[in-house]
Amino acid sequence: MAPIDPHSFTDSSHPLTTHVSLSLYLDFNTSTIHASALLTLSSSFSGNLSLDSRSISIKSILHPQTLAPLPYSVSSSPDPIKGSEVVVVLAGQSRVLILYSTSPSASALQWLSPLQTFSKTHPYVYTQCQAIHARSIFPCQDTPAARIRYDVVMNIPSPLSAVMSARHVRRRLPVLEEAKHLDVLSSVVWCAEDRVVEEFAMEQPIPPYLFAFAVGELGFREVGPRTRVYAESAAGEVLDSAALEFAGTEEMIRQGEKLFGDYEWERFDLLVLPPSFPYGGMENPRMVFLTPTVIKGDATGAQVVAHELAHSWTGNLITNINNEHFWLNEGFTTYAERRIVEVVQGADIATLNMGIGWRGLNDEMERFKDNLEFTKLKNKQEGVDPDDVYSQVPYEKGFQFVLRIERQVGRTAFDEFLKKYIATFKFKSIDTDTFLDFLKANIPGIEKEINLQLWTEGVGIPEDAYEPVSAIYTKIISLAEVFKQGKMPSEDEVAEWKGQEWELYLENLPKSCEPSQVVALDKRYRLAESKDYEVKVSFLKLAISSKCKGYHGEVEKTLKSVGRMLYLRTLFTALAQTGGTEEKQLAKQIFAEARETYHPIAQGVVESILSKYI
Ligand code: BES
Ligand code: ZN
Repeated sequence: MAPIDPHSFTDSSHPLTTHVSLSLYLDFNTSTIHASALLTLSSSFSGNLSLDSRSISIKSILHPQTLAPLPYSVSSSPDPIKGSEVVVVLAGQSRVLILYSTSPSASALQWLSPLQTFSKTHPYVYTQCQAIHARSIFPCQDTPAARIRYDVVMNIPSPLSAVMSARHVRRRLPVLEEAKHLDVLSSVVWCAEDRVVEEFAMEQPIPPYLFAFAVGELGFREVGPRTRVYAESAAGEVLDSAALEFAGTEEMIRQGEKLFGDYEWERFDLLVLPPSFPYGGMENPRMVFLTPTVIKGDATGAQVVAHELAHSWTGNLITNINNEHFWLNEGFTTYAERRIVEVVQGADIATLNMGIGWRGLNDEMERFKDNLEFTKLKNKQEGVDPDDVYSQVPYEKGFQFVLRIERQVGRTAFDEFLKKYIATFKFKSIDTDTFLDFLKANIPGIEKEINLQLWTEGVGIPEDAYEPVSAIYTKIISLAEVFKQGKMPSEDEVAEWKGQEWELYLENLPKSCEPSQVVALDKRYRLAESKDYEVKVSFLKLAISSKCKGYHGEVEKTLKSVGRMLYLRTLFTALAQTGGTEEKQLAKQIFAEARETYHPIAQGVVESILSKYI
């Protein structure tokens, strides 16, 4: 009896779930899902089976054939990170049927009222399950070690439609028969006139964190042979500009296939979410979820898509066995993303991205200077909430490690290695040692050339990491240097700059500058009002930490219009950590007013930032 994942109650001596069948009745009036989950294990089992759940209320657990109740218990006080353990007593079966309802505060779900949507007439709900939130939608072994196939029958109001990270099977009328397991509902409710059912199936085994859906009044545009972009249908402009922004997607998929092997997921659709979506992008298979802030008519939209696309190989095909090995997902993906960007946008842009990443990695060393564990690629996460330690380290140190290997063996050999690595471990969940063993077996002697242990288990940035160099990178860094002596870049110098150049520039300025200089920079280049949120947020961070008081209004407006955690983290940290009493007060006030508009995961993250500094 031993846990296999610090974030799950799943036990090493239990069979893992291989299939889940869900019936979901979405009740938008109460922000609740009434549901049944039929779990199938890899083998029959007798004894106490442990499952994960969070704020789920279980009505009963049944034998799927006889419908006889099975004894079960739910831990009385939830673990603050893992949630509540559900223990079901099995007597030689391999399947259990769980009848339950979710809570309105389910951490994976954001329920938007009509007023919070573009159309203002229909509600919307969407999921975000990574890292450990799937358990708030259905009880499960919520660890990436357990790969599941699933099917879903989803009952929703008929004006709405549903999309999932799964194959859409059909849309049809509800059937009386299927309500029988949902003892919380009468079949009258299930079959009401204004309801429809959408069916989905996921035939490839995925880690539970890749379970995803969205329901709303959705529309789409075709952008390629295997790609549509979806968004609220009332947001016609969003759909049109997204279709333009992502027109190059098919080309990226083809380049990805050349580099990493076949695209195994059939479709690569994109869903543009409402502004409260907490991430830039989420690699849900067959349907990537994106923040609307990536649509800005420059290279960054494609960069985020390249990243999420790259996960189709690294992350979704080969998956970290638990969050302690998260770098296997994000480090490889950041490397793969930059390889795709290099082909479709050119080496200059790829290097610029590396430069932004390099700056970010160095800043994280400062953030974790009292908690060096999280400067390691492989790190201990017992008792740690993954959302609290989310950082650039797995991305950028992971990227540096993969690049270090590439530089050692050369591109050609490395490309061959990468293809073989993916082909060998596809549809498997692995740990760092499995990767290292494969590396040593396939590149004999590599451990003599690179200190693999230092890279994966050591703190900080190894000496043989590579600071990216290119003409534009060096130029921007030196312009940032002379800002300290009061020199602003000239109109000529910035004539060609887009969002990423400005971001690199701003991120390389001293953490706090002479306030009058910061104001002058903004007067000249209008950075606080930039439509590009990366630029805007970088600038506002600088303004706050330089004690420029004139930007509080803009900060507030920003924090009330988007819910992407990258921005929330940056601005709330700036206000609460570097600000004085007035800024701390402002942070509290904004959060109190905006809280309800944030995804539950984002609410939790902001809460922990404020409680740390205020
Ligand atoms: N898988 C991540 C998002 C994520 C990580 C969600 C951890 C929950 C827990 C996704 O692939 C990602 O890295 N998104 C980035 C995009 C970027 C690096 C281009 C983001 O959201 O900023
Ligand atoms: Zn990622």
